[in-house]
Amino acid sequence: MKSKIVLLGPPGAGKGTQGEKLENELGYVRLSTGDMLREAVRKGTSLGVKAKTYMDAGALVPNDLIINLMKEKIASLGNNAGIIFDGFPRTVEQAEALDQAVDIDLAIDLNVADKVLVERLTQRRTCPQCNAVYHLAYNPPKKAGFCDKCGSVLYQRDDDKEATVKNRLEVYRKNTLPLVDYYKKAGKLTVIDGTGDIETIFDQVKKALN
Ligand code: AP5
Repeated sequence: MKSKIVLLGPPGAGKGTQGEKLENELGYVRLSTGDMLREAVRKGTSLGVKAKTYMDAGALVPNDLIINLMKEKIASLGNNAGIIFDGFPRTVEQAEALDQAVDIDLAIDLNVADKVLVERLTQRRTCPQCNAVYHLAYNPPKKAGFCDKCGSVLYQRDDDKEATVKNRLEVYRKNTLPLVDYYKKAGKLTVIDGTGDIETIFDQVKKALN
C-alpha cells in the first residue's frame, strides 16, 4: 500500500471527506493544513492570529508559515507513518519543500465542476471539535445540527459563504492547479472523478493506493 499520499483538488472537491475515511478505515495519519489553521485561530495562537485575515478572505496563508508548520508535523511522525496530505501543498513552492521532507508516492486529483463545488461548500457543516464534515443534503448528520462522532454543535465555516467561495476557487486556479502538472511530470498523478456517491469515490481512491 502506498504510504505518502497528496490529496489535490479545488475547495469542496472532497479532500477532507475522503481523507477522513482513509484515516478512520485504513489507519493513515491525515495532515490537514486547513484543520490545523482553524484550530490555531480558535486557540488564538500567534499562527492563528497571522492566518485569520488570509483565511477569512479566501486567500492563501503565506508559504513560510505553512511550510514550517508542516515540517514540524512530518518530523514528529517518523518515516514509517502512512500520511495523507490534505490541502497541502497548495503552491509549487510548498510542493518543492514537501519533496525535500518526504518521498511522495501518489497525488490524487479529485476532479469536480465549479457549479457543484459552490453548492457543496455553501451547504457544508463542520464539527469544531473533531473536524468531521457533513452536507445538509448529501451527507447529513443523524441528528440535525450535531456531530455524529462527538456530539458537538455543527457550524458553518466563515469562508463557506458564497462570495468567499468564489474567491477561493480563483485562488485555487491561479496557485494550486499548476500542481496537477507538477505531479503529472513526476509520474505520480492519478485523476479521480470526484462527483457521485462518496463510497464509490472511496473505492477508486483505495484502488489507486495499491
Ligand atoms: P482548507 O480547509 O484546506 O479548505 P479547501 O482546500 O478550500 O478545502 P475544503 O475543506 O473547503 O474542501 P474539501 O475538498 O476538503 O471538501 P470536503 O470533503 O469538506 O483551507 C481553508 C483555508 O486555509 C484556505 O482558504 C487558506 O486560507 C488556508 N490554507 C489551508 N491550507 C493552506 C496551505 N497549504 N497554504 C496556504 N493556505 C492554506 O467536502 C465539501 C462538502 O461536500 C462537504 O459538505 C461534504 O460533505 C460534501 N461532499 C464531499 N464529497 C461529496 C460527494 N461525493 N458528493 C456530495 N457531497 C460531497
